[in-house]
Amino acid sequence: MRIVSDPKKMQEISMGLRHERKKVGFVPTMGYFHQGHTSLMDYAREHADVVVVSLFVNPTQFGPNEDLDRYPRDFEHDREVAEAAGADILFTPDVKAMYAPDASTSVTVEGVSAGLCGASRPTHFRGVATVVAKLFMLVNPTFAVFGEKDRQQLAVIRRMVRDLDIPVAVVGRPIVREADGLALSSRNVFLSREERGQAPWLNKCLEAAAALAASGIRDVKTILSAAADILAAHAPLGAVDYLEAVDPDSMQPVDTVAGPVVLAAAVQFSRARLIDNRLALPPES
Ligand code: PAF
Repeated sequence: MRIVSDPKKMQEISMGLRHERKKVGFVPTMGYFHQGHTSLMDYAREHADVVVVSLFVNPTQFGPNEDLDRYPRDFEHDREVAEAAGADILFTPDVKAMYAPDASTSVTVEGVSAGLCGASRPTHFRGVATVVAKLFMLVNPTFAVFGEKDRQQLAVIRRMVRDLDIPVAVVGRPIVREADGLALSSRNVFLSREERGQAPWLNKCLEAAAALAASGIRDVKTILSAAADILAAHAPLGAVDYLEAVDPDSMQPVDTVAGPVVLAAAVQFSRARLIDNRLALPPES
């Protein structure tokens, strides 16, 4: 596996790969790899000639009071994991190389970015869309793989790619969970023992909500209030940031489960903000 830090070098390599008509699979990450990340790398390895993994903790997607400084990092571990997963290139630019001091261009994806995480992290998706657009320019991938845990991020990137005609296929891959259902996340290390015991209820309340929808209950208020009761009873250490039902494409709130709906939740524990989501479907008619 080759490690490339210089963005211009990465671009030169990727131009060469395009010229050779290689199928390039790209996995953008912020590192601290777990099985969620390796599942994305495995998909890329299976479907591409060349796999590029980027490792860049992007400062522009963190708000002023968020966890940029203490975001977990372990480069040696990540290098080994990426290599074992069959990555051909690990792209590790530094902040100075990615952003000029007077950088003044950004990508804003209106609407899709506005609710859910965008409501409590107002600059987050602008940072994500901008860095992903930059990474796409540098890596020039045939397809890029993202986890469905960050479902709003996935919707934002799909919309950006569509609206800007970026020639990249965006692939979403299923959430990888612990045995007790907790979605894998680099931030899980920040949970206390007690919080770790309660955190799986984030998934369980969404599972229960999806089961209500599948049983024929269409009213979103009824479904979400049942989920909220479950969280309040079993995860009292977490403060609910949101618990919502949204359209999978536009990420706008819906009132009834008339088709596929994303049930999404964010819960703030003392040092970790966790997100999770689940697709709910009405019963087949
Ligand atoms: O999902 C992430 O790890 C990040 O938001 C991404 C897509 C790598 C952009 O920094």
